[in-house]
Amino acid sequence: MATCLVTGVAGFVGSHLAERLIADGHAVIGVDCFTDYYARALKERNLVSLRREARFQFSEADLVATDLAGLVRDVNWIFHLAGQAGVRASWGKSFDAYTRNNLLATQMVLEAAKQHPPEKIVFASSSSIYGDAETLPTFEDAPPQPVSPYGVTKLACEHLCRLYTRNYNLPIVTVRFFTVYGPRQRPDMAFTRFIRAALENREIAIFGDGEQTRDFTFVADTVDGTMRAARAGAPGAIYNLGGGSRVSVNLVLRELETILGKPVRVRYQAAQAGDARDTAADIRRAQTALGFAPRGTLATGLRAQVKWITEQTQ
Ligand SMILES: NC(=O)c1ccc[n+]([C@@H]2O[C@H](COP(=O)([O-])OP(=O)(O)OC[C@H]3O[C@@H](n4cnc5c(N)ncnc54)[C@H](O)[C@@H]3O)[C@@H](O)[C@H]2O)c1
Repeated sequence: MATCLVTGVAGFVGSHLAERLIADGHAVIGVDCFTDYYARALKERNLVSLRREARFQFSEADLVATDLAGLVRDVNWIFHLAGQAGVRASWGKSFDAYTRNNLLATQMVLEAAKQHPPEKIVFASSSSIYGDAETLPTFEDAPPQPVSPYGVTKLACEHLCRLYTRNYNLPIVTVRFFTVYGPRQRPDMAFTRFIRAALENREIAIFGDGEQTRDFTFVADTVDGTMRAARAGAPGAIYNLGGGSRVSVNLVLRELETILGKPVRVRYQAAQAGDARDTAADIRRAQTALGFAPRGTLATGLRAQVKWITEQTQ
């Protein structure tokens, strides 16, 4: 049994990860400060079943404003998922939240881990560091060229991780998540917005022509890859955790129509600054080194998310 620190535990991916760790027999110390990027009530709901677990402890703490020594001491694995997500909101005044909750928070976690080194630290990075990648699917060693301020902060975090591995021997593994979906997906993310609009018979706003593609990843696969990175990831290594297939937004809408059994109304709007045109993960490194094998399909994963949203709104 490992004792694990999960930062961002009240969030979408963090709460799923903590539940899986508990199910596998580990103990989890979860940290979150409930940033106001979306409603605290939604994050509290993500924690409901975890709070019933004897092997789960929760600490409401802001990573930037807390002495983290007590939290990192005696943990085997640190999963650092806390951060400010979302590419479109990362311009303008809100950039402050991105530098604070991505860059500064990561530095605080790494400094604390330097004092009390765990067996492994897994840092949650993003496909956004690739920007408009020159090759698809994109290999981990492709030149990073983020097209959003969010991507810039995540790339800077990756550099910090590399520095702490190189200078202080910290066993940090970076995983790059690719557009994660499934139950509890954040309210700002596309699938949640599409499903809610369709259920309420509202028009779905699409940024761009809908032919942009994403390597959508079902959350259980993201969680599985993240745990594999803790067990088998090489310190200093970076792994793409993509769902394994690239799908256009228009195809997602057609799948949604099939699931709901009705047509959806769509309004196409100008593409947004910060959105990459396409993302696709070359996952061969994670397959070979970690045994990562994503299983989620769009049909089943999207259905699970529709079911979850329907239950929430009843
Ligand atoms: N969801 C995706 O598709 C995706 C894709 C690529 C990368 N990521 C990364 O994965 C991680 C998790 O994403 P998510 O979708 O679950 O986001 P989320 O917003 O649901 O969860 C992040 C959590 O971190 C917490 N947090 C932020 N700053 C904090 C701080 N200073 N101290 C303590 N807690 C803090 C927030 O309150 C939130 O609950 C993020 O780092 C994100 O950048 C997510």
